Amino acid sequence: MIIKEATFISSNTTVAKCPATDLPEYAFIGRSNVGKSSLINMLTNKSKLAKTSSFPGKTQLINHFKINDNWYLVDLPGYGWAKVSKESREKWLKMIKAYLQQRQNLACVFLLIDSRHEPQKSDLEFIELLGSLQIPFVLVFTKTDKQSDLKTQQAVATYQKKLLESWEELPQIFITSSSEKKGRDEILNFIDQVNAELNK
Ligand code: GTP
Ligand code: MG
Repeated sequence: MIIKEATFISSNTTVAKCPATDLPEYAFIGRSNVGKSSLINMLTNKSKLAKTSSFPGKTQLINHFKINDNWYLVDLPGYGWAKVSKESREKWLKMIKAYLQQRQNLACVFLLIDSRHEPQKSDLEFIELLGSLQIPFVLVFTKTDKQSDLKTQQAVATYQKKLLESWEELPQIFITSSSEKKGRDEILNFIDQVNAELNK
């Protein structure tokens, strides 16, 4: 898929205020600082579309970006980062949960996982939540430029093993680096396929 147009639409505190649900949307979710906003900028080839920061807790609202006038990318706040105040963490998790439960046109969640870390409790809990809400999701391993390919492969294998303890089927996995533009074609092709399925 070629991205011809990527436009910021709105930032909202509640799902009710989000744009009309007439187009499919893809939400980027994960721990604070995992690289959600950076991945959106990498996919759209616009380095300043979504705001990024080396300090966790940058994205605090539900941000909609319209792509090719045909679908939405959604940047959400992160969860589970100890350095973010408990109050903010609880507020954002509530916002994310309400978004997941209420957003009718949510086609798929991209759950981002830092490829350098062992499976984290907050991520595993979040995967369980997506399962219980029956929301389609894929896993995206981020920041792979920060380590060897072997280490990334090991991290993915560890994750898959962990998931097989409670899941019969494994979700689709994408290996990415926003700084090296790795995984871009794979993710955009996937979105293209889902959009085509939805338009059938
Ligand atoms: P919150 O909005 O705070 O939840 O964070 P986020 O998940 O949106 O992360 P963000 O995209 O702001 O990135 C956090 C930090 O990680 C920034 O300093 C980015 O430059 C860096 N980063 C993100 N992706 C990559 C990557 O693929 N490689 C490297 N080396 N750094 C990355
Ligand atoms: Mg962000």
